[in-house]
Amino acid sequence: MEATATAVRQPADAAPASQPAFAGTLTDKLREQFDAGLLSGQALRDDFTIEQPLERYTETDHAVWRQLYERQSSMLRGRVCDEFLAGLSALGMERDRVPSFARLNETLMRATGWQVVAVPGLVPDEVFFEHLANRRFPASWWMRKPEQLDYLQEPDCFHDVFGHVPLLINPVFASYMEAYGKGGLKAASLGALDMLARLYWYTVEFGLIRTPAGLRIYGAGILSSQGESIYSLDSASPNRIGFDVRRIMRTRYRIDTFQKTYFVIDSFEQLFDATRPDFAPLYTALRGQPTLGAGDVAPGDLVLDRGSREGWADSDDI
Ligand code: PHE
Ligand code: CO
Repeated sequence: MEATATAVRQPADAAPASQPAFAGTLTDKLREQFDAGLLSGQALRDDFTIEQPLERYTETDHAVWRQLYERQSSMLRGRVCDEFLAGLSALGMERDRVPSFARLNETLMRATGWQVVAVPGLVPDEVFFEHLANRRFPASWWMRKPEQLDYLQEPDCFHDVFGHVPLLINPVFASYMEAYGKGGLKAASLGALDMLARLYWYTVEFGLIRTPAGLRIYGAGILSSQGESIYSLDSASPNRIGFDVRRIMRTRYRIDTFQKTYFVIDSFEQLFDATRPDFAPLYTALRGQPTLGAGDVAPGDLVLDRGSREGWADSDDI
C-alpha cells in the first residue's frame, strides 16, 4: 500500500457515514479530553458542541498551526481555486496561532450566515447534517501533534478550519453545503448514506475545479495535505474525470491512499445546480446498479486524464 500524506481520511465505503471516520468512538475521544483536563468545567451540549477552549491551546499547538499554515499557503499558490484564496483573505484567518472561531464567525456570519462551532471530534451523522442544514460547520477544536504534520486519521482543527472554512464565504458553495446537510437528513431516512457520502468525498473533500488558468483544488482533504496537493494536480497516476452526480454516487473510494480518481467541476454553480433535484428517485435507480472501483474508468465518462495507474498494486483496487 502506498504511503499517504493526506491530512484527513474519511469513512471507509463500508461505513455509511458522510463525514470523516476515525478509529475509536466519540465517547473515547471525549473521555480522553475530559481525563486530560482539557474540557474541565464544560459540558457537551445536546448538539455535541462545546465552547472552543481557547486557553487550552499550548505554544506547541500554535506552532503547529503556524507551520502548517505557512507550508500550505505558499504551496497552494497557483494550485488552489481563487474562491478559496478570496475566502482566506476575507476571513483574515490568523497565520500565527489557532484562530478563534468567534472571531472568524463575525466575518463569516456577515458574509453567508455560516458559523464554525467547536466539537470534540466526529459527531454522529444526523448531528452533523443538522448542523450543516443550519449553516453551522462543526470543527474539531484540537490540533494535531507535531509528529502528525503530514498525516492523521481524523479531522483536526487545521483540516477543518483551514481546509473547510474559507469556501463557506462563497455564496454558492455556502448554499451547496447547507443543501448537503438537508440532503443528508433525507438520505439517512432513505438508507442512502453510502451514495451521498461518495458525493461529499469526491466534492467537498477531494474536488478539483477547471478554470481558465488550469485545474485547481477546492477539496479540503486535498488542500490540508501537502503531498496530495501536489499529487492531485501533477501526478499522471490518477484519473481526472468530469463531474457527474450519478457516476460519483456509484464510485467507491479509498481512505488510505491518495485518490485514484478526482472528479472535476467547471464551477460551483454547476455543482449546486446538479445537486438541486430530489435525489430520492436517483437513490432508487442507482441502488440496483453495480458500483465502480476507485480507479475505474467507465463508458460514458468525461475523461480529462486517464490515469497511468503507475505505482498502483492490483491488490490496491477496491
Ligand atoms: N438534492 C438533494 C436531495 O434531494 C439534496 C442535496 C443537495 C444533496 C446538495 C447533496 C448536495 O437529496
Ligand atoms: Co473534512
